[in-house]
Amino acid sequence: MSETTERISKAREHIQTRMKIEPQIAIILGSGLGGLIDDVQIDAVFPYSEIPDFPISTVEGHAGQLALGTLADKAVVVMQGRFHYYEGYPMSSVIFPVRVMRALGAGTLVVTNAAGGLNPSFDPGDVMLITDHINTMGANPLIGSNDTAIGPRFPDLTRAYDPDLQGIVQSVAEREEIPLQQGVYVAWSGPSYETRAERRYLRLIGGDAVGMSTVPEVIAANHAGMKVIGLSAITNKATGDPDQQPDSHEEVVAMAKVAGEKLVRLVRNAIREM
Ligand code: HPA
Repeated sequence: MSETTERISKAREHIQTRMKIEPQIAIILGSGLGGLIDDVQIDAVFPYSEIPDFPISTVEGHAGQLALGTLADKAVVVMQGRFHYYEGYPMSSVIFPVRVMRALGAGTLVVTNAAGGLNPSFDPGDVMLITDHINTMGANPLIGSNDTAIGPRFPDLTRAYDPDLQGIVQSVAEREEIPLQQGVYVAWSGPSYETRAERRYLRLIGGDAVGMSTVPEVIAANHAGMKVIGLSAITNKATGDPDQQPDSHEEVVAMAKVAGEKLVRLVRNAIREM
C-alpha cells in the first residue's frame, strides 16, 4: 500500500466508525452555493479538522466540513468548503477529499463553482453546465508517483464530464424551466482575477467560463473512475471587452447566491434521477 492509499484509508476509517451508510454521490459545494445543504437530511457531520490527514482549512470565515446524509433518496457525502490551489495547498491536498469520498463508496461526483462568464452571451446569475474543461493552472494533481490502486498512470479525459449525466441535467432544466447555459470551464490558478487580455485569450482558446477551482478535483475523480457532472454559477462578466468592469469578490459572492437558487433546484432534481 502506498503512503497516499494509507492516508486515504485512515480518513475513510475515521468516518466509517461513526457512519455506516455508503454514499453513492459526492457533492462539492462552491462559494455561495452552500444552500443545497438545507435539502440534505444529515446523518453525520465531520469538521475537516477532525478527519485524519485532511488539509487544515484556511477558508474564509467558516471551517469547512464533510456532511453525510440523504438527498432526493440518495446517500450523499457533501463537502461544505473546498481547498483551493491559490490558498497554497499542494495539489495532493486539494484532491485528497475527493479520494476519500471515492473510498467511502461514491461513484459519482457533482461539482459546483462560481465562475466568470468569458462568453459574451452569459449574464451574472446564469447557470452553466460544464461540458469540458481547459487547465491553465500550470499544475496537474496527478504529477508524482502513481498508485495504480487508485487509478492508471495516464488517465483518459476525453469524456471528463459524463454525457449521460449531462443529459439528465439538461432534461431536468427543460422540465423545471430553469434556463441553462453550457460550455467549457477554464481553470485559472488565481488568486488575482484575469487581465482583460488574458480573458480575451481564454475566449480564443475555447473557454466559456473561468474560475479558480474544480479542474484538479475533476481530474482526480476521473483518475479514480468516478463519473463527473459539473455546474458553474456565472457571477460576473469576464469578456475582457472594452466595457469590462472591475471585478469584486463581494459581487461574485452575491451573484453566486442568485445563480445558486437555480443551481440547487437543478442539482436536487437531477440527483433524484441519477
Ligand atoms: N475569474 C476567475 N474566477 C472567478 C471569476 C472570474 O472572473 N468569477 C468567479 N470566480
